[in-house]
Amino acid sequence: MHRAYRAPTLGIASLLSAAIVCSAYASASDPQEFTAIERGRYLSVLSDCGGCHTAPGGRPFAGGRPIETPFGSIVAPNITPDPETGIGAWTDDQFDAAVRRGIGWNGTHLYPAMPYNAYTRMSRDDVLSVRAYLNSLDPVRKPRSRNTLPFPFNVRKLMAVWNKLYFAATEYEPDPTRSPEWNRGKFIVDGPAHCGACHTPKTMLGGDRTDQYLQGANLQGWSAPDITNNARTGLGSWTAEDIALYLKTGHNRMSAATGPMAEAVELSTSRMTDADTTAIATYLKSLPGKAEERSAPSVDGNMMAAGGAIYRDQCSACHGIEGKGVAHLFPSLSASAMVRSDDPTTVIRMLLRGARSASTDAEPTAAGMPSYAWLLDDGQIAAVLNYVRNSWGAASPAIAARDVTRVRSETASRAD
Ligand code: HEC
Ligand code: HEC
Ligand code: HEC
Repeated sequence: MHRAYRAPTLGIASLLSAAIVCSAYASASDPQEFTAIERGRYLSVLSDCGGCHTAPGGRPFAGGRPIETPFGSIVAPNITPDPETGIGAWTDDQFDAAVRRGIGWNGTHLYPAMPYNAYTRMSRDDVLSVRAYLNSLDPVRKPRSRNTLPFPFNVRKLMAVWNKLYFAATEYEPDPTRSPEWNRGKFIVDGPAHCGACHTPKTMLGGDRTDQYLQGANLQGWSAPDITNNARTGLGSWTAEDIALYLKTGHNRMSAATGPMAEAVELSTSRMTDADTTAIATYLKSLPGKAEERSAPSVDGNMMAAGGAIYRDQCSACHGIEGKGVAHLFPSLSASAMVRSDDPTTVIRMLLRGARSASTDAEPTAAGMPSYAWLLDDGQIAAVLNYVRNSWGAASPAIAARDVTRVRSETASRAD
């Protein structure tokens, strides 16, 4: 699909577009045709500003959505151009300082739940075009809600310490030894699309563990898998086309986007240009990921037999006896890195609660996965997952019944 799309651009047109990408790796992929507002609209799609700054069912960008962090929830405020309750009265400097430096308009620190530590990769120009776009929207009057972080996290001054530890204001510097496409991909991943906000593990204080860049993290009751090119836990078995297709449609031959990733796909990646999803894929395929210590499978034969019996009964109708699934409908469990992930939270959660994957323009009707919370007990869920995590050539750490019990109680209080 992507090859077919690229074919017509060969020749003079491709030279031209390569030149444009070179000089403007950081601007939208078709900068010439974009007005400032249009460019800002596209950057706001790349950055998914609307995802956090829109309450469920609320007016776009009018705020009111609580963003969950390990320290409590922080409500994203109104960023429509309303002069009193939004950003209408802000100067460009104030807006730029909020988005790229995490400084609120009265000089207080913002919490990093607002991903300014990623947006700092954008240029001032990029951010001001986002503002031009926001200014073109209807102002909505909606006062900010009070934040609910417990002491000591409610002391915003402490964020100065956090910034010293984890924040460096650094605009993206292209690496001249790499292709423009790679640079564009790295810029989007580290900058506007803030993939590391969910995929890079965090310290106790919520800073990025930069030595484990994009190697998988736990957030909001989900595990976001390793998205480096590591062969076992990461995207090693995915082609660049598989990654681009997943970002564009929410599905590919081995996986489907669920939960927070379904949202990222629906609101952001599916609306990116094909050139940009391909650039992200090119970049991710270049990351070696962690060195593997091969651990012997710690699942015994009885567990495998019990899990295999449940699998044939309950799962094989959709996912196939050999775990290959049906492309774009039922994910291939044998090819899924998420299945083998060291942190099994997401797969346990999917078995307990069922799942519905992203619905995008390209693939509007998403297939669903039933919930097994009542049909199988915690020991049986652990057994069937151990079976899929250690069959078809895979070897992954064992899941215990108590891991399932933990996820069951953690997710019990959540709406989705
Ligand atoms: C992951 C969620 C998230 C995303 C994505 C996000 N924001 Fe925010 N934003 C927040 C939260 C939460 C706050 C409030 C932080 C606080 O109170 O310390 C905030 C605060 C702000 C503020 C300060 C507003 C005020 O009244 O103090 C501005 C401006 C802002 N965001 C703009 C943006 C723009 C522009 C984008 C896209 C480029 C964006 N945000 C993307 C979560 C997000
Ligand atoms: C709001 C948090 C969040 C953000 C932002 C996010 N992801 Fe994810 N991602 C997740 C979670 C959670 C999962 C696991 C659920 C799933 O696979 O559907 C996931 C799954 C994935 C997968 C599937 C991996 C597999 O083995 O099945 C890929 C690929 C991926 N993300 C890439 C990205 C890229 C690239 C970006 C940035 C453009 C990104 N994600 C941004 C949370 C996020
Ligand atoms: C009715 C068809 C159906 C049955 C039966 C079914 N699944 Fe699924 N399964 C799906 C669909 C559809 C998805 C993708 C849903 C999504 O990602 O939101 C999925 C996703 C998954 C995933 C996540 C894979 C990934 O990489 O995204 C795992 C793991 C999984 N199923 C395991 C199982 C197990 C174990 C069983 C049996 C106990 C089972 N499924 C039974 C349809 C089914």
